Amino acid sequence: MLDVARHFFGVADLKKYIDLLAAYKINVLHLHLTDDQGWRIEIKSWPNLTAHGGQTAINGDPGGFYTQEQYAEIVAYAQSRYITIVPEIDLPGHTNAALASYPELNCDGQAPELYTGSEVGFSSLCIHKELTYQFLEDVLRELAAMTPGPYLHIGGDEAHSTPKDDYINFIERLAPLVAESGKRMMGWEEIVQCHLPANSVMQYWTDVRHAEMAVEKSVQMIVCPAKRAYLDMKYDDATPLGLSWAGTVSVEQAYTWDPVTEVRGLAESAIVGVEAPLWSETLRTLADVEFMTFPRLPGIAEIGWSAAEGRGWEEYQGRLAAQGPRWEARGVNFYRAPEIPWES
Ligand code: ACM
Repeated sequence: MLDVARHFFGVADLKKYIDLLAAYKINVLHLHLTDDQGWRIEIKSWPNLTAHGGQTAINGDPGGFYTQEQYAEIVAYAQSRYITIVPEIDLPGHTNAALASYPELNCDGQAPELYTGSEVGFSSLCIHKELTYQFLEDVLRELAAMTPGPYLHIGGDEAHSTPKDDYINFIERLAPLVAESGKRMMGWEEIVQCHLPANSVMQYWTDVRHAEMAVEKSVQMIVCPAKRAYLDMKYDDATPLGLSWAGTVSVEQAYTWDPVTEVRGLAESAIVGVEAPLWSETLRTLADVEFMTFPRLPGIAEIGWSAAEGRGWEEYQGRLAAQGPRWEARGVNFYRAPEIPWES
């Protein structure tokens, strides 16, 4: 997953990133397309989402958005490298950019200012307004039409400004809209508190109780625990980019875990895959994105594609080191973790 909302990365950047992912058999790219700081995908029936809500990014950095034509180009480029794009519209929180673009979406009819800070949890769609659901129907219809892949991701995380009952009502009203669009619903782990269609997928990212609830309810899961798989966590305390709310994640920590043993009772058949999310609060350029992605991502890919008994940290380090010259040759700004015996 790449967060193109906190900072925006244009078509050329995404194509280069897709090439780098494909080299490690990453076969899905989840794009976090909307958040408080920016709305990045053109919705023709609600043009202000991008005309107004796409202008900003964190810290006043340049905004931007993909036209539907550009998005089609990204999807086709990814497809040509066997990568499926999963688009995410984060709901009902993380919606300040949308609320700022359309006053009528707000409960009080007043549009908030555009937001360029890094707080989370302060925005919510107006759960008891019918217009909210007309809006979502339009957005999901256009998004589904742009999406040849099977999934639409509806976010659902950190809705701290939505009362819990409202949150549950909201997700349970949203789920049939996703189904009507012909797609499978995907959401962050919090959605497991709701009654979900049987084919829904939740993403375990921080609270193992949500993952255990998914096991109880037989909800399929993507395993991406922040303390192992979040590429925006710093490598160590000296890393100049990234965050550390889930701790630091060394190259070794990103490699030496197993999705099957991460959650009690989780059956391998319930795991849809692993994911390595990269949130972009502190990442302004593709070089920054590369620095946090490499060399950790190949380890996550190997976890996704290989049996646990074949993986070992000692042996892996040599194979990882051999990737260094390849990244150098391609101009990839990877982090030269001192514990890896890089070939020069
Ligand atoms: C998340 O990291 N807020 C899913």
